[in-house]
Amino acid sequence: MADHQANGNLSDANLSDANLSDANPALSLNHKYALDRDCTTLSRHVLQQLQSFSSDAQDLSALMNRIGLAAKLIARRLTRAGLVEDALGFTGRTNVQGESVKKMDEFANQVFISAFEQSGLVCRLASEEMDQPYYIPENCPLGRYTLLYDPIDGSSNVDINLNVGAIFAIRQQEGNDLDGQARDLLRDGHQQIAAGYVLYGPSTMLVYSVGSGVHAFTLDPSLGEFILSSENIKIPTHGSIYSVNEGNFWQWEEPIRNYIRYVHRHEGYTARYSGALVGDIHRILFQGGVFLYPGTVKKPEGKLRLLYESAPLAFLVEQAGGVASTGTQRILDVVPDQLHTRTPLVIGSVEDVALVESFIQEHSREQQEREILSTKG
Ligand code: AHG
Ligand code: MN
Ligand code: MN
Repeated sequence: MADHQANGNLSDANLSDANLSDANPALSLNHKYALDRDCTTLSRHVLQQLQSFSSDAQDLSALMNRIGLAAKLIARRLTRAGLVEDALGFTGRTNVQGESVKKMDEFANQVFISAFEQSGLVCRLASEEMDQPYYIPENCPLGRYTLLYDPIDGSSNVDINLNVGAIFAIRQQEGNDLDGQARDLLRDGHQQIAAGYVLYGPSTMLVYSVGSGVHAFTLDPSLGEFILSSENIKIPTHGSIYSVNEGNFWQWEEPIRNYIRYVHRHEGYTARYSGALVGDIHRILFQGGVFLYPGTVKKPEGKLRLLYESAPLAFLVEQAGGVASTGTQRILDVVPDQLHTRTPLVIGSVEDVALVESFIQEHSREQQEREILSTKG
């Protein structure tokens, strides 16, 4: 195994590099070269993670490879979107959530379908852009996996050339789903076998977990491969960033407003919000802090969808040592009642999520006390 893998991540590798170079400059040069030469590809990494060449491990490796292929095809279109006909703007249609669909949403949704039609492994795909799951009957006798995905996350950023993402989760299909209702998907997030996201930023990155840590890959366009760039990422227990759309301040319930008042009044907090969940969470994964998309008085369930947004990110962030909550419940414990169920989301560093939750707990305690007093009175 290359030194940088054994050491955990590139910054550790640089550190050990400095030590090596003190002791032996020639060794240091070799080490740097090895970092570039002994690159770990995504499919190889999945097999290493699972420490097996079993058929399940091979399946998962092939599935991740397909997600990588979809990401490369989408990245290719995004990088030239301003030059290509019909890449930007709206389709004129609305999706099942009532949101206006962008051409890039539809393109990316279709890319995932095409990539998995050829995989032989996925019987069913469910995405933000499709009312019902999409079946690939020819794969179903053998392909027992379901891919859940948000093909373009943060699509309001597409037309202005800012970062967007994709979110995915893989689940095992339970039963034959004879009525096509996909009821077996209405289960908690612990059922996820793998989850992750793709970030289309200055470089394209794929971050994933198969339940043994969180690992980031960077697309090397000259190789056309995702190459391991950070292994076993650990989210700091606290960070200065809070990431939330404060334009909704007056729509929120009082405890969320109290939390925001708290960070305004205390030193050491800074706001970052890009309009694309994937980018905001990526920052928090590396630097710590908290991302919130709370419910509002009118929409207590919030905006984000459980099965292909909140639950995959919760799986990932927990694997990195962070937490994800609705504010009152662990996201991975939430059982959806529909494919497109929404949940409030508070996700990130342990201490920062706990701080948000403490405002919610305090508020419900006060409410209970008031109710007791009013029944007594
Ligand atoms: P999507 O583009 O998949 O619908 O997701 C957008 C989500 C999320 O990425 C982002 O954090 C949030 O919606 C932004 O919503 P607001 O504009 O309401 O802040
Ligand atoms: Mn989204
Ligand atoms: Mn989307």
